Amino acid sequence: MGHRIDKQRRKFLTYAGMTAVTAASYSSLQAAAKTAVNRKASADFKADVEIELTQEVANVAIFKGRKTRVWKVFGKMLKGAPDIVNNLPGSYLAPTLNLQKGQKVRIYLKNNLPAHSILHWHGLHVPAKMDGNPMYAISHGETFVYEFEILNRAGTYWYHAHTHSVTAKQVYSGLAGLIIVSDEEEQALALPKGLYDLPIVIQDRSFDAVNQLRYVNHMMQRMTGFLGDQIMINGQPNYVLPVENRSYRLRLLNGSHSRIYKLAWDDGTPITVIATDGGLLEKPETMPYLMLAPAERRELWVDFSTKPIGTELTLRSIPFSGASMHGGMMGGMGGGMMGRGMMGRRRGNMGSGRALPLAGDYQVLRVKVVKQATSDDELPDGLTPLTRLRMADAANSGKARTVELSMRHMSALLNGRSYKMNDVKPDEVVPVNTLQLMAFDNGYHRSMGMMAMPHPMHLHGEQFQVIKREVNPRYQAAHASVSEGLVDSGWKDTVLVMPGEKVTFLKPFNDFSGLFMYHCHNLEHEDMGMMRDFLIK
Ligand code: C2O
Ligand code: CU
Repeated sequence: MGHRIDKQRRKFLTYAGMTAVTAASYSSLQAAAKTAVNRKASADFKADVEIELTQEVANVAIFKGRKTRVWKVFGKMLKGAPDIVNNLPGSYLAPTLNLQKGQKVRIYLKNNLPAHSILHWHGLHVPAKMDGNPMYAISHGETFVYEFEILNRAGTYWYHAHTHSVTAKQVYSGLAGLIIVSDEEEQALALPKGLYDLPIVIQDRSFDAVNQLRYVNHMMQRMTGFLGDQIMINGQPNYVLPVENRSYRLRLLNGSHSRIYKLAWDDGTPITVIATDGGLLEKPETMPYLMLAPAERRELWVDFSTKPIGTELTLRSIPFSGASMHGGMMGGMGGGMMGRGMMGRRRGNMGSGRALPLAGDYQVLRVKVVKQATSDDELPDGLTPLTRLRMADAANSGKARTVELSMRHMSALLNGRSYKMNDVKPDEVVPVNTLQLMAFDNGYHRSMGMMAMPHPMHLHGEQFQVIKREVNPRYQAAHASVSEGLVDSGWKDTVLVMPGEKVTFLKPFNDFSGLFMYHCHNLEHEDMGMMRDFLIK
């Protein structure tokens, strides 16, 4: 690795405000990676699909005028149908990968970036060595070979950088994309397909006056998480979705760092959800608004058939409580204040130059009905049967493994611990092929006054099912402003845990042993250390 790269790395380290201690643990990480990185295709893995993903510095025309320098992933099909990879030209997003359940996939990840990096397949159930743990980060010029079978149900999954302490910066620069998995069960349903089945990746970003990405990461931003000044849809600003007057399947991903959305149609139409992180629900669910936390996916059924041509409607994010660090009933509206005024100077393009308040009222997705439809689909009453996980099958049904979420002394902790590589504690060892009863406790038992924030908690490996939510009475009023928009009935890999809340869930740990991470998906919290490994064995 050349001098230039070392210099670049040093720049990143300073950027993230890391201490010498963190830098030291980074070099031990690199040492471990040297032995763990999978560099070669294995002869006994018969791939149906082979993809080359190359990470590069690229200039993308996001705005008029100067191109934006991003970290772009370029996909190339080596084996399999050409439409498996959609490179999304004109977007900083990584290519969308369209895969089928049961396919054996080999991915050659080539890192041509001036930094070490690794990709994680968010929501996919893959072997530990293929999961993109930060210890597998590769340097400039190196290749990591992933090999895994798609075991997941049809659904909307995604992938993103998971590099030690710089995940946020790398995702911000562009290292994130969608994985859409289909299967026979889904194909048998008469859901909108093709042009009427659309991904909607929601992110917030800030750009400077010459169209360059601006990532602010001072202490306050790290505590709240990054908040941008404009909303990007599928990597594009000021996006308007043109539709026919018919029904659509919209696959929403919140790919933002810390921004939680409370989504509602501006004409009062309720929201109909048909899928969560891990695929289709048993039946559609209708709600006045939808909460969408970082990393979560929800698929919507939207019916524009009664809307005359020319109709414009907007999916907005509307105010809610509990977003700010000081929690409780007063917490909501000021949730974005941390970001205000700190975002620096005004810019030439459409962003305001000030962070959109976290729990404020702003536009997310504009839709315009532009065309007479010649076909339509009807919303099925039933979608797919769901296997219900049962408490009685849990290996520890009497006593949940509880993870306490806390923020103190300017750090974000899990059971009082920060992330460290190869630092598995006895309570983090889980027997393989078991079902575990687990809970995330975000101050349910604590008194007011403690710093409390919402945390979108994610576990690698298999999808889980939420059993119950309990809310500290003092937070109940705040919680009521989000509760109708939480969808807990399906498979999930990420769950929003609001201040004062405890969420209990059943999580399977089948098939694969090794290290699997659990962490807050507020990316600034993750990089601050709100992340740990489970050792499955
Ligand atoms: Cu989407 Cu460990 O991450
Ligand atoms: Cu968090």
